[in-house]
Amino acid sequence: MHDLVIIGCGGFGRESADVVDAINRSAPTWNLLGFVDDDPSAENVARVRRRGAALLGGLEAFSSRGRGVHYAIGIGDAPTRERVASVAEAAGMVPATLVHPWAAIGADADIGEGVVVCAYAQIGSDVSIGRHVHLDRASQIGHDCAVEDFVTVHPAAVVSGGCVLGPGAELGTGSTILPGTAVGAHAVVGAAACVVKDVPPGVTVKGVPAG
Ligand SMILES: CC(C)(COP(=O)(O)OP(=O)(O)OC[C@H]1O[C@@H](n2cnc3c(N)ncnc32)[C@H](O)[C@@H]1OP(=O)(O)O)[C@@H](O)C(=O)NCCC(=O)NCCS
Repeated sequence: MHDLVIIGCGGFGRESADVVDAINRSAPTWNLLGFVDDDPSAENVARVRRRGAALLGGLEAFSSRGRGVHYAIGIGDAPTRERVASVAEAAGMVPATLVHPWAAIGADADIGEGVVVCAYAQIGSDVSIGRHVHLDRASQIGHDCAVEDFVTVHPAAVVSGGCVLGPGAELGTGSTILPGTAVGAHAVVGAAACVVKDVPPGVTVKGVPAG
């Protein structure tokens, strides 16, 4: 069993803990020490207590004693996730890759450090997934896609084959990306949008067709 903390106790942080619980039910792997969070809301403190987990304080304080401890980042915002990863790595913490046992992973998928894959997510053949990517419940990444570091794919988003998702890109719930399309770095695709052509870096698109 490896010691593990989840950084951030918001919605995705607690969903990441659900992934840890499912992995442990399948094969005892992680000793979840608790959540690290700089400023948890009162609601989230109550939610963490209800699940019987510990709150371990803020990142700066925890990282001074975190060398060798594995970590996953449960924070949806990509720039914040990037900052947190650099603090954790400078402190000698080790990124954990968490894949729910009910996710389907194709042949020759390359999954980076710190990635969290939730229940019912599907990754096709010959896909590369960068570091600290979030694939939320029932999201789908088609064959031959390249998903770069810190991408966030919200629930039930569908990425067709041969797409490139640039670093820090965010795909809203239920969005669809047509085959061979590129979504630029830190671009945002709105919920339920259909992307039919490349999205430039940093741009937000929404609707059908997305624009
Ligand atoms: C597209 C999006 C990024 C826009 O966010 P925003 O810039 O804060 O936009 P606002 O909420 O101010 O809305 C601006 C306008 O766009 C519309 N709009 C917002 N989201 C939309 C969407 N997904 N599709 C179509 N129109 C949308 C609003 O109705 C509003 O229209 P109006 O100007 O006619 O009143 C955001 O709404 C979105 O869809 N994000 C995805 C979030 C998500 O999936 N989270 C999952 C968490 S698990």
